[in-house]
Amino acid sequence: MNNKFSVPEAELKKQKEYTELVKTVLNSRFSDKKPKAFVHTYGCQGNVSDGERLQGMLAEMGYEFTDSPENADFVLYNTCAIREHAEDRVFGNAGALKPIKKLNPDMIIGLCGCMTQQKNIAERFRKSFPFVDIVFGTHVSYKLPEFVYRVLCTGKRVIDITDSEGNIVEGLPTKRDGSFKAWVPVMYGCNNFCSYCIVPYVRGRERSRDFDTVVNEVKGLIESGYKEITLLGQNVNSYNKDLPENKRFPALLQAISEIDGDFIVRFMTSHPRDCTKELLDVMASSKKIAKHLHLPFQSGNDRVLKEMNRHYDREKYLTLIDYAYSVMPDLSITSDVIVGFPGETYEEFKDTLSLIEKVRYTSLFTFIFSPRPGTKAYDMPDKVSREEKGKWFKELTDLQESIAGKRTASMKGKTYRVLVEGKAKNEGVLSGRTEGNVIIEFHGDENLIGKFVNVEVTEPKTWVVYGEYRG
Ligand code: SAH
Ligand code: SF4
Ligand code: F3S
Repeated sequence: MNNKFSVPEAELKKQKEYTELVKTVLNSRFSDKKPKAFVHTYGCQGNVSDGERLQGMLAEMGYEFTDSPENADFVLYNTCAIREHAEDRVFGNAGALKPIKKLNPDMIIGLCGCMTQQKNIAERFRKSFPFVDIVFGTHVSYKLPEFVYRVLCTGKRVIDITDSEGNIVEGLPTKRDGSFKAWVPVMYGCNNFCSYCIVPYVRGRERSRDFDTVVNEVKGLIESGYKEITLLGQNVNSYNKDLPENKRFPALLQAISEIDGDFIVRFMTSHPRDCTKELLDVMASSKKIAKHLHLPFQSGNDRVLKEMNRHYDREKYLTLIDYAYSVMPDLSITSDVIVGFPGETYEEFKDTLSLIEKVRYTSLFTFIFSPRPGTKAYDMPDKVSREEKGKWFKELTDLQESIAGKRTASMKGKTYRVLVEGKAKNEGVLSGRTEGNVIIEFHGDENLIGKFVNVEVTEPKTWVVYGEYRG
């Protein structure tokens, strides 16, 4: 596909040439063993998916992978900037590499992703982290072979945080983390500029991958045995929004659900502003689409939603939820919520609690507002103390815990189709997920991992339900 976001063929060819050059250099430097890379990704599934392409490029260059930085010749942190805490962790973990590099001075250290796309952060790494060799942003990650080559040959640092409207790079090698669950991005970037959020600044403008390219990628994955496909985007409902209906997200989901094979498809994230009844109808119509909707509401109060620049109100959100439950009575709904947005009062926060009670979520991702430099909310007056916000937060998580507990209690005695994901902590116990994204554990043979099985719930707890294998 070629659209205005495509990176030119010639540029990609150049990177292939760098890949070969790196391979040659590594072969001569590591004649008796293979060089090892450690890649760690922070943040959302979109970033995890990027990490799989970074790993793919490194594998093509000749790297093998290790799960500890101490054993690595190349360490890459693929970072997240969504909250201050996420950034603090990276500063801490990157700092911890300094003594490791002292022991292995040839080690190359790279930092990339959403955090490094910010100028001030890249500058901080440049100044205060001299042992970091490569710093690059989200728009140029396909140039990893070139960056590695330059460092290998010159020993000099490379810093490239070039900004762009955003780009789409197809055809990069991908080294997926799993063999039966796959992430498939359908779009990149975001145009929404929710007032608290850094994503549009570090990920560029919204851009959609070509419809047939996505469908073919999913077909290929299913042919090679993948059982669960998760379509990714910051706002999947605005996928191809400028194209005719038969190219938009509901049509894409429909087309994927019609692919032959035994698999399940999930998607995230839906933005309530662009989520339509049509999408919910498509979900309801196919057994292959998980009956799980992740629909972040952020706040239950209209004034706060307006300040957040979310473009929907409580009523619109609840109308969507009502419709969703009417066409999918067993639907499992999850969401994201922010506590303590600047200016939020306790009365307003209570609207968030009442919305949670109305919707009865399966689970929630709960966040205390974190000011992100450069966003609109960063400069908004914020009078409520951190301590007070902590109390609200606790009230919210207590409420959600009691709802989740009641929801899982009602699963007792029912049998669910589960994709078995791996071994649980206890010996002989397996762990999987229901369609609704509830974790379920049961005794079973390891060869069930990666397969769909039926499990009857016998002992539900709040965040994990225990059951028995039923074939
Ligand atoms: N595109 C998705 C959200 C992606 S970010 C959507 O619009 O729903 C994931 C979640 O992080 C957000 O839904 C929000 O709840 C939270 N988040 C984003 N910025 C934040 C901030 N500055 N402080 C606290 N939470 C934040
Ligand atoms: Fe951030 Fe809003 Fe975009 Fe989600 S939709 S990524 S919260 S700006
Ligand atoms: Fe974080 Fe970037 Fe995702 S900021 S949440 S890794 S898009």
